[in-house]
Amino acid sequence: MSDIGGTPRSAVSSAASGQPELGPQLNTFRGVRQSLEASVLPLATSVDGRRFSFQASLHGLELQVGSYVVLDGSAGRCLGQVLTLELDRQPVTELTLPALAAGAPEARTEVQIRYARGEGAVLEGDGAPFHDVLVRVASAAEVRAWVRRSERRYATLHLGELALVAGVPCTADASGFDRHTFLCGQSGSGKTYSLGVILERLLIETDLRLVVLDPNSDFVRLGQVRAGADPALADRYQEAARGIAVYSAGAMAGQRLRLHAAEIDPEMQAALLRLDPVDDREEYAALAELLASKEPPSLGALAASDHPEARRLGLRVRSLGVDRFSVWAPGESGSVLDAVRDQGIRCVVVDLGSLPTREEQALVAGAVLGDLWRRRQEHRPVLIVIDEAHNVCPAEPSDQLVAMAAEHATRIAAEGRKFGLYLLVSTQRPQKIPENVLSQADNLVLMRLNSLADAAFAQAAFSFVPPSLIDRSVTFRQGEGLIAGKISPQPALLRFGARISQEGGADVPATWAAAR
Ligand SMILES: Nc1ncnc2c1ncn2[C@@H]1O[C@H](COP(=O)(O)OP(=O)(O)OP(=O)(O)O)[C@@H](O)[C@H]1O
Ligand SMILES: [Mg+2]
Repeated sequence: MSDIGGTPRSAVSSAASGQPELGPQLNTFRGVRQSLEASVLPLATSVDGRRFSFQASLHGLELQVGSYVVLDGSAGRCLGQVLTLELDRQPVTELTLPALAAGAPEARTEVQIRYARGEGAVLEGDGAPFHDVLVRVASAAEVRAWVRRSERRYATLHLGELALVAGVPCTADASGFDRHTFLCGQSGSGKTYSLGVILERLLIETDLRLVVLDPNSDFVRLGQVRAGADPALADRYQEAARGIAVYSAGAMAGQRLRLHAAEIDPEMQAALLRLDPVDDREEYAALAELLASKEPPSLGALAASDHPEARRLGLRVRSLGVDRFSVWAPGESGSVLDAVRDQGIRCVVVDLGSLPTREEQALVAGAVLGDLWRRRQEHRPVLIVIDEAHNVCPAEPSDQLVAMAAEHATRIAAEGRKFGLYLLVSTQRPQKIPENVLSQADNLVLMRLNSLADAAFAQAAFSFVPPSLIDRSVTFRQGEGLIAGKISPQPALLRFGARISQEGGADVPATWAAAR
């Protein structure tokens, strides 16, 4: 089979035999193909009224994966979304061209036309099948009207604008945050920034409590409105932001990030002291006994105890440097766990990044997650936000303490929802968090991924999202993303809007690379 853009069958022999130039013949071939390709009608067909397949000309093709289209049939119009799009070819017919010269043979070739073919979802409509209805890109006004029509009785969160329809807002259904949410994207893709947008909108539009585990101190200024924020929004935000409490290591007494050893569950205490229940059974038993006693001694007092086992524990505490943790607050009442439990505090930011050691970070993260899980029977809805989840609850924990934090996160992912414990977990690569956390997420917020392998992993984990939309993530720019799941029953490509609050740890500016 020869392609009409290529060389007709008689061409090679003609050129070799020094016959007249083939230019006019080729031009005729190409002209015919072009007009055939340009005349492919943009038509869609659906056998179930929910999904449709379509064809369109490649000339001036405006459709993209994720674009919104109007399906315009005799029974009326409805909106659809393109979910797959590819180039296809069809041999159409054999074409006979005039002879190059009088008496010479005619040239024949098969005209192969190329066109766009794809599938999509019907976003609204009566569910009736249709055939050969015209399909065209929807205008911004048409998409905006659909967004309005589809807004539900629950609060909607304005996250930014639709990436493919400039000026049309992209909203999320706030009630969808009663499921676990997975936010993923490569470093610098805008996860933390976008997470901030989501949290701000949740603060303004809902009453959901938030507990934010913040390993990079990115949310320590969540309560402060940034200069240049939309004034109307800023006012509403200021009101909501009164309920934000940030707990940092260096803060003044009331909001100092501290913990009391006695508040930590025995398993975590043992992990902290690297005690193995079998290998170190005597010390382990002594620790359990001490914790069960009415007035457990402080970590520092252990070394001076009358009990030899307690003294040994004391030595262990000293040699591991546990007694020097800045997170302990001997003599100070209250701890970050009190804030997590206090329903009067709307949003608790746990500034893990302010703690000087990884162990203290893991300890606090594990203690917070463990406490939320222990109190699950209270059935108080809370969104547990874990930024940098690959450090807080990694798939492959580096030590026993981190493993406990990961275990708590996994348990909450598996069973927390019915108790009102909802996770919002953010990480750079889907493989980096425990599989059981990933598999329980019903919402996806996907930013740029840096490899097709990661996209394939995400496709397998989020089968409710059309794979071709996930594929697009490798082309996203900073701040662009895909949302899907209960928060956006129809997956949408979006550009996140501007933050209202200040960023804590924005990227270091690259002034060192300024042109000279
Ligand atoms: N939508 C946006 N508008 C403006 N600036 C943005 C946007 N998204 C991200 N940025 C900026 O890009 C930089 C990187 O964003 P961000 O810190 O959110 O990335 P990240 O995905 O969290 O990276 P990492 O995984 O390294 O933490 C920040 O300085 C942030 O201010
Ligand atoms: Mg980040």
